[in-house]
Amino acid sequence: MNIEKLNGIANRMVAPGKGILAADESTGSITKRFESIKLESTETNRRDYREMLFRSADAMKSYISGVILFDETLRQKAEDGTALVDVIKASGAVPGIKLDKGPKPLPFCPGETVTEGLDGLAERVAEYVKLGAEFAKWRAVIDVNEKIPSYNAINANAHALARYAAICQAGGIVPMVEPEVLMDGAHDIDRCAEATEWALKETFQQLYYAGVQLEGIILKPNMVIAGKKSARQAGREEVAEKTLKVLKRCVPAAVPGIAFLSGGQSGEDATAHLHLMNAAGPLPWKLTFSYGRALQADALKAWGGKRENVAAGQRAFAHRAKMNALAASGRWSSEQEKAA
Ligand code: 13P
Repeated sequence: MNIEKLNGIANRMVAPGKGILAADESTGSITKRFESIKLESTETNRRDYREMLFRSADAMKSYISGVILFDETLRQKAEDGTALVDVIKASGAVPGIKLDKGPKPLPFCPGETVTEGLDGLAERVAEYVKLGAEFAKWRAVIDVNEKIPSYNAINANAHALARYAAICQAGGIVPMVEPEVLMDGAHDIDRCAEATEWALKETFQQLYYAGVQLEGIILKPNMVIAGKKSARQAGREEVAEKTLKVLKRCVPAAVPGIAFLSGGQSGEDATAHLHLMNAAGPLPWKLTFSYGRALQADALKAWGGKRENVAAGQRAFAHRAKMNALAASGRWSSEQEKAA
């Protein structure tokens, strides 16, 4: 393993004042997003949407350090025939690939899943390297209620994450390790803190057993936040404080960077939380974003699937990317939102 090379890629992914665009929605997920703007999910529409984002020249150059892609997109060409991965590279961002095959029901653990996709993974990594990927993502999903997560779900998912991460490092790409504690339930913020701490502790233990070198990974965690259906929604300061507390307990300083998922937070909440955490620094690691919905929702709506709205979609994307880039260095304020 060339750990210097992996560490170099990881550091580019969390370059100061930049963050990651998660554009790796599976065909099923992007189809759901398109339904919200009443757009049919054809290969061309998916290409046009992603091309609009990747060709947002200012946003990509100034605020985006990396892009996570779905298999189809990594192989797709822009309308003018340029490979989309080359459009991303030309902006200076690092291309990445979603490697997992999604969460599948975990036997004897009602409501819980384990993420699959380990079979043949070394061969897939080798192919993705040839196609231009320099990092990869694997998402483990941990749901929360009064009875779960179970130890079996925490352990099975952490073990799979560690096996995936080791295969990536052996194949020369940086694993983005994503244990996501969902915010879909009715649990409060302290229950989320408990589940997140458990998932992270177990994940780092398994990474150690698997021989993964922490200098060559990026962690992609959830924030510590109340479930959407909880009667007690925590304020922004509480989310920032409790998230940092759990991360400091669990994430070794050898990890170059932490890039959060947005998980269903509004665009502005996701930005504000990231800002508050960075403003509370200095921290042992870079802290930035790897948002999907929180970066894209406004852009998708402004575009609406119409060619004449490409510039409007790009403006909306550039605004959210800029706000998050400011938050990644603790320099965001709500006045800047309004100014736009
Ligand atoms: P969200 O930011 O929409 O949660 O997506 C990020 C991601 O990559 C989830 O795996």
